[in-house]
Amino acid sequence: MTVLVTGGAGYLGSHTCIELLNADFNVVVLDNLSNSNIESLNRVSKITNKSLHFIEGDIRDRDILQKIFTENDIKIVIHFAGLKAVGESCEVPLNYFDNNVYGSIVLFQEMEKAGIKKMVFSSSATVYGEPEKLPLTEDMQLSATNPYGRSKLMIEDICRDLEVSDSIIKNNCPWAITLLRYFNPVGAHESGLIGEDPNGIPNNLMPFISQVAVGKIKQLKVFGGDYDTVDGTGVRDYIHVVDLARGHVKAVQALENNLKGVTAINLGTGNGKSVLQLVKAFEQQNNKQIPYEIVGRRAGDVAACFASAERAQSILGWKAELDVNAMVKDTWRWQSNNPDGYC
Ligand code: NAD
Ligand code: UD1
Repeated sequence: MTVLVTGGAGYLGSHTCIELLNADFNVVVLDNLSNSNIESLNRVSKITNKSLHFIEGDIRDRDILQKIFTENDIKIVIHFAGLKAVGESCEVPLNYFDNNVYGSIVLFQEMEKAGIKKMVFSSSATVYGEPEKLPLTEDMQLSATNPYGRSKLMIEDICRDLEVSDSIIKNNCPWAITLLRYFNPVGAHESGLIGEDPNGIPNNLMPFISQVAVGKIKQLKVFGGDYDTVDGTGVRDYIHVVDLARGHVKAVQALENNLKGVTAINLGTGNGKSVLQLVKAFEQQNNKQIPYEIVGRRAGDVAACFASAERAQSILGWKAELDVNAMVKDTWRWQSNNPDGYC
């Protein structure tokens, strides 16, 4: 079976391509390389000893989409393509709505024309906004606090509206969409060949720690030491990128096996770790010191955020297997082998 992976050259997409190829799917990748390097896909082929079909192009380009859907027997789309930096989204919101929301609309329209109505969409825990209680379950109220988050919520809403439209116009081929809400993906493939390659100074914690470890940045600033958490620092649900990639294979298989309607599913471990717990694990597992100082809280941060992972287990038969030690070791193998990323 052939899967189209939009944004497949990126961090999460490239790891997912490996798991799809390992599970014997044919893979077509559409990526405009706006935040990735083709080298990631060369390495995917090296790791799997299998090839995939790469098309450089944009999800907003109807001609390319029509060509892909005509020339390949695509049954399911995994839709990763999107811009993802929260801070940048506040500076240039129109770019985010154009790329993420308009891009998704064009993709969905062309999928519909081609009769392809099964999709896995990259959503985010950001759609829960300020957590009303923990752990976060999929039926909780949704909200967004920045343009990036709003773009994810809008796309989720569009998907739910497609389900409503199917129920009004009784359709032989209704949409079947799985909205995967990722918590905090970290880590890298155990080969050390592919991993996260952020542009410039990273915003997220794990790439920041690994760039301190490799000597590119002097010290980590820990945002807030006075939260009501185990040690006063922020708590998040870090999930190994390989677990997350395997969750996508399970989601594709569930759609293949006729999972119906629009289903939101958290991809997290169900456990929170604090900033300092992550720093300590990194230091111990990799025998590297991470100098840090505790500074003021970062605007917009919440004290703690972690998933209920029950629905993923019950619907997909998936749960995270890799622990925090694997996350920090694999991150460091990738970073130390590739101090400048794919360059
Ligand atoms: P990434 O930037 O590494 O990958 C996204 C890929 O999409 C890149 O290769 C980029 O070149 C491509 N792309 C962007 N706009 C495109 C367009 N218009 N047409 C074609 N290709 C386009 O990001 P990632 O970390 O792999 O994230 C993948 C998806 O998961 C994104 O939608 C992101 O919002 C979502 N997500 C990521 C995280 C995370 O922490 N990494 C958390 C929650 C949700
Ligand atoms: C961020 C995004 C969120 C996205 C998620 C996963 C913001 C405001 N939110 O959330 O939309 O879904 O990543 O990609 O960017 N920390 C430090 N020092 C640092 C960096 C982070 O102490 O230099 C702390 C943060 O305060 C937080 C934890 O580390 O407590 C994790 O931060 P981060 O990796 O940025 O993820 P999120 O805040 O969960």
